[in-house]
Amino acid sequence: MQIEIRIGAIQEVEADAVVVNLMEGVTTPGGATAAMDQALEGRISRVLAAGDFRGRLGETLVLYTDGQILAPRVILVGLGPEASFNAEKVRHAAAAAAQRARELKARRLATVVHGAGRGGLSPEEAAQATVEGTLLGLYTYQRKKENAERPGPEVLQLVEFDATKEAAIAAGARRAEILARFVNRVRDWVNEPGSDMTPRRLAEEALGLAHEVGIRAQVLNEQQIAAMGMGALTAVSRGSEEPPRFIILEYAPEGRLERPVVLVGKGITFDSGGLNLKSEEGMATMKGDMAGAAAVLGATLAAAALQLPVPVVALAPACENMPSGKAYKPGDILRALNGKTIEIVNTDAEGRLILADALSYAARYNPRAVMDVATLTGAAIIALGQDVAAALFSDNEELAAALLRAAEATGERLWRMPLWEDYLERIRSDVADVKNSGGRYGGLGTSAMFLKQFAPEGVPWAHLDIAPMDIAEKARGYVPKGGTGYGVRLLVRYLEDPKP
Ligand code: BES
Ligand code: MN
Ligand code: ZN
Repeated sequence: MQIEIRIGAIQEVEADAVVVNLMEGVTTPGGATAAMDQALEGRISRVLAAGDFRGRLGETLVLYTDGQILAPRVILVGLGPEASFNAEKVRHAAAAAAQRARELKARRLATVVHGAGRGGLSPEEAAQATVEGTLLGLYTYQRKKENAERPGPEVLQLVEFDATKEAAIAAGARRAEILARFVNRVRDWVNEPGSDMTPRRLAEEALGLAHEVGIRAQVLNEQQIAAMGMGALTAVSRGSEEPPRFIILEYAPEGRLERPVVLVGKGITFDSGGLNLKSEEGMATMKGDMAGAAAVLGATLAAAALQLPVPVVALAPACENMPSGKAYKPGDILRALNGKTIEIVNTDAEGRLILADALSYAARYNPRAVMDVATLTGAAIIALGQDVAAALFSDNEELAAALLRAAEATGERLWRMPLWEDYLERIRSDVADVKNSGGRYGGLGTSAMFLKQFAPEGVPWAHLDIAPMDIAEKARGYVPKGGTGYGVRLLVRYLEDPKP
């Protein structure tokens, strides 16, 4: 989609549909909506007086303009109540309007920049949210039948009356375009079937994009992974015919890679459970078990494309978890890259194993902070709810606070959970340093405590369990059903102002 900025009056633009907004409960519109109302000789006011449009978030109403203005249709979109208004509401409203425009088969869409006026957002923030909502809300997975012929608008025109805001709007729109490009790419990766999005394919995709944005990329193969001493990744991948990959992206702004933020992502391209085979229900969505890897790769590529000043490394261990005559077994003892040994209790607790090697590998960068992102546990979904929030664990207050702020700003919800020592006791083993499962109870806490044993010592660390968020069960606002791209915007937001 092409994004244009036009300085002028909203009621004077030429487009197939023009979007104006309204906050909930407002009876006399102001700003651009008032100007449009006047041009339409009070048509919007009459709709409001009749009580036919309340301004609820994402509510839309199409008005036909009968030649009163150049555009044949106006889409009125609700922003919700003023008291709770923020950038997240803009993304939601922009998506609703764009989806309505797509239904109307509008090719040229014009819109006000939601929230820049009465909403009190900065013009840059408002423009970014408006464009993000539009581009993310119009995403479709092209292999899905119903999407094959839903192209959506080709042009989005951002219309602003005040010329002094132009540069800020352009900057916000540009950021949004870059972010949406990578979020939507991550959605594609997650939506792709497991038999197509293999570890080799994921590595190829990462290499291709790394080349495009001009950052260093390296992919380790099976032999290199084993020779290095990644005993856990080697074991998990052994049951599959598909060879594993260890994907490394290094974004070094101005050639400097000192003290990078290292992002680690779980890249299980299909999780059958291994010999502890999952049920039909449990296995159905397990093509999404590489969403953590996709998110950290996407975020690192986006950070590079945005030219953020912070060095970033993405590490994505990728493999399948399959049962076979060669598969690793309950009772096996593995040695991770940092030398610690792991007793296998359950082959379905595989994510923490491949992350153990990747977190150990992170130490070589002398990182400023390490964050891992993983669809790690069903327990996270039990605790927080499907499509509701991801779980955050951290041993550093500043890092946790920065991530929670980024979550608030991006609408990618996080909820912090405790790292109590009790959880470590539950994963003590008689034959190894730790075991890979502490059983059903406290499964979220024990999984995080397991990972902490492999995070580089003395480095601020955070773990994001995104199992509730990788694939949306239901479409909501700017997040269509299916792969969500969760984590890309959150991590980039953190990288814009990393702490500690
Ligand atoms: N990939 C799953 C976790 C998951 C479940 C992600 C549902 C998304 C949706 C993970 O590898 C897993 O199987 N975890 C087990 C751990 C258990 C065996 C200790 C789980 O949560 O049941
Ligand atoms: Mn599993
Ligand atoms: Zn898994």
